[in-house]
Amino acid sequence: MSSPPEIRVYPSPEDLAGSAALRIAGFLSQAIYARGFCTLLLSGGSTPRAVYERLAQTASGQGHDWSKVHLFWGDERCVPPDHPDSNYDMARRALLSQVPIPDVNVYRVDAEHGPEQAASHYEADVRAFFSRRAVDGAEMGVFDLVLLGLGEDGHTASLFPRSPALLERQRWFAGVEHDRPPPPLVGRVTATLALINAARQVIFLVVGKNKAEIVRQVLTGDSNPPLPAQLVQPDHGYTLWLLDASAALSLPSDQT
Ligand code: 6PG
Repeated sequence: MSSPPEIRVYPSPEDLAGSAALRIAGFLSQAIYARGFCTLLLSGGSTPRAVYERLAQTASGQGHDWSKVHLFWGDERCVPPDHPDSNYDMARRALLSQVPIPDVNVYRVDAEHGPEQAASHYEADVRAFFSRRAVDGAEMGVFDLVLLGLGEDGHTASLFPRSPALLERQRWFAGVEHDRPPPPLVGRVTATLALINAARQVIFLVVGKNKAEIVRQVLTGDSNPPLPAQLVQPDHGYTLWLLDASAALSLPSDQT
C-alpha cells in the first residue's frame, strides 16, 4: 500500500530549486552509502532545469562522488540529442556538463529512431544495467530516485491522459505517438507506471500559477478516470511533491 504523498511548498521557484537540490543530493548520498551506487531517473520539461543547475553546484560543493551516480531519463522526445526540445540536451547543459560524471554512467534514450524502437532499445539497456549491478544489490528496475514534472492536463513523464501506455504493467518503457499539445508534437519514449511505481522515492517538481488547478485536481480530486499523475503510487516507496507557492495556490490550507 502506497504511503500518502508528502507536500512541501516554497515561496519561490528559486527556493524550491535550492531545497530540491539539497534533498536530491542527500538522497543520492544515502543510496551510495547503502549500496555503493545510486540510480536517478531524470524528468524532462523546463521546470527541472533550475534544480539540475543547483544540484550541480550543491553536489560538487559537497564533494559528491559522481562516479557512483547512474543517470537515466524518465522520458524523451523523438528528436536529436542536440535539439532544443531534447530532455537529454537540457540535462546536459544544466547538469552533465557541470559535474565529473563518467560518460558510461549516462544512459541517454536513443530516441531518434522513433518511439517504439527507441523504447525497446532503451528498456534493453536499462535491464542490462540492473542485471549487471544485481551482484551489488540492485533490485531489477528499482530506481533510488525518480524525478517527475506535471503537465496542465495531469500528464507526467510522457504518460498522457487516456494513453494506452498507462495500462502497461510489464514493460518499463513505452513508445508514445504524441500528436497533441503540449508541444513538441513528436513521438516520445516514456517510463511506464510499472517502472515509476517500483522506485524507492519519487519527487514531483511543480512551479507556476498555470499548474495550480491541475495540482489541486491531482492532490485532492477524484478524477474518473484518474489522471496519470494520480497513478504514481510507489508500491514500496515514497512520493514527495515540491511546489512553489503559485503552484500550490488552489490547495486547501490543510494540505500545505
Ligand atoms: C516532458 C516532461 C513532462 C513535463 C511536464 C511539465 O518531457 O515534457 O517529462 O512530463 O515534466 O510537461 O513540463 P514543464 O516543467 O515544462 O512545465
